[in-house]
Amino acid sequence: MTDLKERRTKVEVKNLTKCYDDLLVLDDVSFEVKEGEFLCIVGPTGCGKTTFLNTLAKFIPATKGDIYVDGVPSNPMIHNLSFVFQEPSCIPWKTVEENIRLGLEIKKIPEQEIKTRVEKVINLVGLQNYRHYYPRQLSSSMEQRVVIARSFVMNPDLLLMDEPYGQLDVKLRYYLEDELIRLWKELNSTVLFVTHNIEEAVYLAERIIVLTPKPAKIKAEVIVDLPRPRDFTAPEFVKIREQVTELIRWW
Ligand SMILES: Nc1ncnc2c1ncn2[C@@H]1O[C@H](COP(=O)(O)OP(=O)(O)OP(=O)(O)O)[C@@H](O)[C@H]1O
Ligand SMILES: [Mg+2]
Repeated sequence: MTDLKERRTKVEVKNLTKCYDDLLVLDDVSFEVKEGEFLCIVGPTGCGKTTFLNTLAKFIPATKGDIYVDGVPSNPMIHNLSFVFQEPSCIPWKTVEENIRLGLEIKKIPEQEIKTRVEKVINLVGLQNYRHYYPRQLSSSMEQRVVIARSFVMNPDLLLMDEPYGQLDVKLRYYLEDELIRLWKELNSTVLFVTHNIEEAVYLAERIIVLTPKPAKIKAEVIVDLPRPRDFTAPEFVKIREQVTELIRWW
């Protein structure tokens, strides 16, 4: 991976502000995401992380500010912002393969290309032998892998992930974190991953943005320049984890 500073800006968030009536939740947040970057956002519970992602994805309107992709305002007709929710969200009456294909079919991608892209991703997440299974026949971690495959297969301009592993036990979480890194590297995706788990952020991110308590502003930015696979117990890892923990304390 080249140095973050040398990479092109892929996504720019400018002066993003969100109020629910009188309640100010996001207060003038601006930052950039580089092409192919893995960026984590951490912040205390209730600070506005989900609001932040929902506003970026345009599920809810911003009160002020906008998001630019490749220098132009993001537009669902041109750009592709893909979302992974906290809860598994497969379509129950479609098989694994049909779930992964669906977004590409909606975008009217040619069949040959769909086949190629689906094959690559289904192999990367290790579900090639489960392609004809329905979500109810899968474990929750397998289902979450389908959701992740479905997002990556779109080659999104920006993949937004809202605590996708929050519900899983630690062992599965470690496993899926490694898988996520593998997919990200293999497919050169640009990922924005929200979590309140600091260890997870230090394990995954090239860079971490720390938010303040509500109303959320950017409090600090931490570069995580550690080799992969990362070791949770390495002194350099622990040092960054403690640094971020200190930044997030609000009591
Ligand atoms: N639709 C809404 N209408 C009014 N207030 C809302 C709405 N959605 C969220 N809020 C408020 O905005 C604030 C931020 O909520 P949000 O869910 O974005 O936080 P979060 O950081 O994702 O929290 P968590 O860590 O629990 O996931 C909270 O005070 C919440 O009550
Ligand atoms: Mg949330």
